[in-house]
Amino acid sequence: MSVTLRDSFGRSIEYLRISVTDRCNFRCRYCMPAAGLEWLPKSDILSYEEIAQVVRELSPLGLRRLRITGGEPTLRPQLELLVGMLRSIPGIEDISLSTNGVRLPELAGSFREAGLDRVNMSADSLRPDRIRQISRRNIDFDPIAAATAAEQAGLSPIKINVVVMRGINDDELSDFARLTIEREWHVRFIELMPVGEMRELTWDHVVPSEQVLRQLEEIAPLEPAAGPARGNGPARYFRFANARGTVAVITPMSHTYCGSCNRVRLTADGRLRTCLFGDDEVDLRSPLRAGLPLEPFFRSALSSKPKEHHLLQMQVGGLRALSQVGG
Ligand code: 5AD
Ligand code: SF4
Repeated sequence: MSVTLRDSFGRSIEYLRISVTDRCNFRCRYCMPAAGLEWLPKSDILSYEEIAQVVRELSPLGLRRLRITGGEPTLRPQLELLVGMLRSIPGIEDISLSTNGVRLPELAGSFREAGLDRVNMSADSLRPDRIRQISRRNIDFDPIAAATAAEQAGLSPIKINVVVMRGINDDELSDFARLTIEREWHVRFIELMPVGEMRELTWDHVVPSEQVLRQLEEIAPLEPAAGPARGNGPARYFRFANARGTVAVITPMSHTYCGSCNRVRLTADGRLRTCLFGDDEVDLRSPLRAGLPLEPFFRSALSSKPKEHHLLQMQVGGLRALSQVGG
């Protein structure tokens, strides 16, 4: 018999984000310094077998949904092997991947074959020169082609996450939003957050979601929508009349969704984090490598999951980059 795992506020933990690497092939200005970060040594990073073991021990306690994140998870060699291992664990209903999309055209098919359900792609611009400017990488990348490759491989619903930055990409909101009219894609506009290396980005670059919605309403009226069936998390969804897809806003800066937060994070080096913004983490790697059962460590992590975060009171630069904690 399984016993649902609950934190001290009664929230059950059915969603785990798994960071498989802290490295990235981008250097997004809101996420990392140009020179990169101090990467974790390889020996500290959990093997696929170790990650699968964590999931095997969590699933009887109520875990249902997984998301593979990074850094950029597709940099980890043969990621499809991990997908296949996770897919075969009883109780896991949904496995998704967060990626910048650069490697999707080449990898989407093998991910799907291994049992991946869907992808969330980050894309902050549709213009090649601007993509280079935001990602600080000299690449020629077409996000629409990457998302199309994922869709054709069967990795839907396709969600595209756009971090909105005033004066940097806020003139492209309607280009992104219009993608949802003809395609069954879900474009989600995210408020810029004060995490990681933000020296070039200030509070002036934050565009509140209400303002994003007002701009979208200028294209055509929006109606509230249910959003894609699975894994909606903290987004509010809308639809243009007769559109196939949806637009959504995600407002991390106003912490209205902590009360229903059912997610925990596994860092690439095997620590369980119960809140993206808190410092609470429990080391699972040591017990894992010592062959100990993990359940007592899960329970102690959950007993410290905070009730809510206090992002608005925090200092810019006082938090670790999302690439380090598995966004
Ligand atoms: N603000 C908002 N979102 C961020 N992400 C990373 N850093 C930030 C930040 N400072 C999220 C975005 C991005 C994904 C990789 O992580 O959703 O698309
Ligand atoms: Fe990489 Fe994502 Fe951070 Fe950009 S936001 S540097 S793609 S981890």
